[in-house]
Amino acid sequence: MNFKALLIVSFFLQLFSLVKGVYLNLNNDTSINNAAALLVQGTLDYYEGYQYGGTIGMFQEPYYWWEAGGVWGAMLDYWYITGNDTFLNLTKEALLYQTGDDWDYIPLNQSTVEGNDDQAFWGIAAMSAAERNFSNPSSSEPQWLYLAQAVFNTMASRWDDKYCGGGLRWQIFSWNNGYDYKNSVSNAALFHLAGRLARYTGNTTYVDWANKIFDWMIDIKLITLDDPWSFVYDGGEISDNCTDIVQYQWTYNQGLVLAGCAYLAEYTNETSWYNRTMSYMSSSSVFFNNSILYEAACQTKYNCNTDQRSFRAYFARFLGLTAQLVPDTQDQIMSWLNASAIGAAESCSGGTDGHTCGINWSYGGWDGWYGLGEQIDALEVILNTQILSKDKPYTNYTGGTSTGSADAGSKSTATNVASLNITGKDKAGAGVLTAVLGLSLVLSGIWLIM
Ligand SMILES: *[C@@H]1O[C@H](CO)[C@@H](O)[C@H](O)[C@H]1NC(C)=O
Ligand SMILES: *[C@@H]1O[C@H](CO)[C@@H](O)[C@H](O)[C@H]1NC(C)=O
Ligand SMILES: *[C@@H]1O[C@H](CO)[C@@H](O)[C@H](O)[C@H]1NC(C)=O
Ligand SMILES: *[C@@H]1O[C@H](CO)[C@@H](O)[C@H](O)[C@H]1NC(C)=O
Ligand SMILES: *[C@@H]1O[C@H](CO)[C@@H](O)[C@H](O)[C@H]1NC(C)=O
Ligand SMILES: *[C@@H]1O[C@H](CO)[C@@H](O)[C@H](O)[C@H]1NC(C)=O
Ligand SMILES: *[C@@H]1O[C@H](CO)[C@@H](O)[C@H](O)[C@H]1NC(C)=O
Ligand SMILES: *[C@@H]1O[C@H](CO)[C@@H](O)[C@H](O)[C@H]1NC(C)=O
Ligand SMILES: *[C@@H]1O[C@H](CO)[C@@H](O)[C@H](O)[C@H]1NC(C)=O
Ligand SMILES: *[C@@H]1O[C@H](CO)[C@@H](O)[C@H](O)[C@H]1NC(C)=O
Ligand SMILES: *[C@@H]1O[C@H](CO)[C@@H](O)[C@H](O)[C@H]1NC(C)=O
Ligand SMILES: *[C@@H]1O[C@H](CO)[C@@H](O)[C@H](O)[C@H]1NC(C)=O
Repeated sequence: MNFKALLIVSFFLQLFSLVKGVYLNLNNDTSINNAAALLVQGTLDYYEGYQYGGTIGMFQEPYYWWEAGGVWGAMLDYWYITGNDTFLNLTKEALLYQTGDDWDYIPLNQSTVEGNDDQAFWGIAAMSAAERNFSNPSSSEPQWLYLAQAVFNTMASRWDDKYCGGGLRWQIFSWNNGYDYKNSVSNAALFHLAGRLARYTGNTTYVDWANKIFDWMIDIKLITLDDPWSFVYDGGEISDNCTDIVQYQWTYNQGLVLAGCAYLAEYTNETSWYNRTMSYMSSSSVFFNNSILYEAACQTKYNCNTDQRSFRAYFARFLGLTAQLVPDTQDQIMSWLNASAIGAAESCSGGTDGHTCGINWSYGGWDGWYGLGEQIDALEVILNTQILSKDKPYTNYTGGTSTGSADAGSKSTATNVASLNITGKDKAGAGVLTAVLGLSLVLSGIWLIM
């Protein structure tokens, strides 16, 4: 074969791989494991902890701390579903490095900007670690269950009856945008954790909390429970007592509520939770186009922001958990995951590595988009096609070995805004802020005089 022919062949080979994406055959475990390994590689390309001077647990800009919590949750799924422990220590180290001094996922570096939802996504990762019997930290370190309980307790302590009849605000701190907004992601995440902690520990106090949060969300119409559509909307402002709910629907919010109901259905055996599970499950069809998952609120216009581009990853994970816990959802969920995984794998054919994932899984190839979100969306949806061959989440009674404490987090300094005193190291930050403000006032004064 001459050189020209070789070039032509290699061109067609590339073209083929471009259209095909990562090889995926849902009946072939090896192909699933190989595809997942490639997607993990692409995910960790964004990891800061590998880079000189980088911080353990963090991903490079523009990926926020909360999304890192989402990624480590996906890495736990990678370990659990493929059984590959190459990144076990890496994942464990990241989850432990970011716990903060009070072991509640409010690390100092985030402590002035962190929202309830941000804290929750790390708490959810810790909960998964407990439920999957992930390698336990040493006795001098916080345990997975403890961390999940600390996140739950500190969040629950921020419950605010003053406006909208209850609920969590989006933000923890009054100086952050969104402090006056009560939204689904914060409240649904607390509900979701309540359901999982109830099932894991057998402590019915968490069921009481789940009921309280769910009823409140229904009451202000943050969520609806109707035949045929049960939806999860975005949030409401306290200025109008949450009477004007922003109607955006996001996959991860639907997933938080859906899987929360599924945990409660399995744990309590109550028909009401079973019915709710079935209802949020079937209404999830609004996020599928010919059974292919898409972020309906932004994707068709191609204007999903960095955060939103990762939502489908968590939704896929929550669908997998739901299918494990409430078998009647399995046919529908698995047919969605199967079709979406095929589309996602086709989209993972871009970039210089040839397996960078795109955003539109109906495109039949790579659509030119890329990022950490695209990478973990595809990873979670592909992994979760295999979830039914795995044990369902363990509890303290069925194989889980993580330990905790019902009052974890109660000594936290940043438990709620009312009791927050700026002390010690925080003061340095506040001082810097004052100095910067002062300097800019002086400078604008000089500018005015001139
Ligand atoms: C399964 O996938 C692997 C990796 O892609 C491939 O080498 C193998 O031939 C496949 N097995 C079958 C039975 O198709
Ligand atoms: C385990 O994961 C690593 C990194 O993704 C990969 O290189 C290796 O091939 C995987 N092992 C198996 C048995 O799939
Ligand atoms: C994780 O690290 C520990 C301690 O360094 C080591 O003993 C263990 O083999 C590592 N596990 C894996 C799966 O790499
Ligand atoms: C906080 O930020 C500093 C400076 O970037 C870094 O050295 C440290 O590791 C960070 N700590 C955490 C828990 O992220
Ligand atoms: C605000 O909304 C809550 C919940 O719907 C309601 O109980 C309360 O009466 C309302 N408060 C005002 C001042 O309208
Ligand atoms: C878990 O079970 C053990 C006994 O198997 C018990 O000692 C422990 O208190 C339980 N923990 C929780 C959180 O219920
Ligand atoms: C729920 O039903 C299962 C299976 O029938 C049973 O093992 C379990 O004890 C029940 N749980 C409760 C809280 O009644
Ligand atoms: C659950 O749904 C069934 C069928 O729609 C209905 O008959 C039953 O009353 C519902 N139960 C509860 C507790 O909502
Ligand atoms: C659904 O997918 C088809 C291709 O399969 C595409 O033509 C259509 O535009 C998609 N619809 C939406 C709402 O994305
Ligand atoms: C999903 O794909 C697997 C593997 O091909 C298959 O065994 C299973 O029946 C499919 N499930 C559904 C609901 O389509
Ligand atoms: C959980 O992990 C412990 C410690 O590694 C192990 O001894 C135990 O067998 C595991 N349990 C299950 C159900 O995998
Ligand atoms: C159950 O949880 C609540 C709230 O965290 C706690 O106050 C209570 O002591 C716990 N009960 C048991 C038996 O652990």
